[in-house]
Amino acid sequence: MAKITFITTDNKTITLEGTSGSVMQLAVDNSVPGIDGDCGGVCSCATCHVHVAPEHQTKTGEATEIETDMLELNDYANEQSRLCCQIEISDALDGIVLQVAESD
Ligand code: FES
Repeated sequence: MAKITFITTDNKTITLEGTSGSVMQLAVDNSVPGIDGDCGGVCSCATCHVHVAPEHQTKTGEATEIETDMLELNDYANEQSRLCCQIEISDALDGIVLQVAESD
């Protein structure tokens, strides 16, 4: 079980608990604003864009090449960016804080 906190673009804090599946699915299932997951998690829409604080990046591991390529196309991406459909929930994520990224 991992407690995962989302900070929305209007600075609301939403903390959810998950055990499996992707962080995007957890967010969509709980209607976290700004996480849409339009492509269903196949890394082709970037509507699940979040920023991971540097001190939490070891919890998520590295982005894949496909994910990095997708993020390069995104105006709001920075070195803290991840697509949260590509982050699997595990105990390792417990306590992570994710800032929901701006979008157009
Ligand atoms: S849900 Fe589409 S890229 Fe993550």
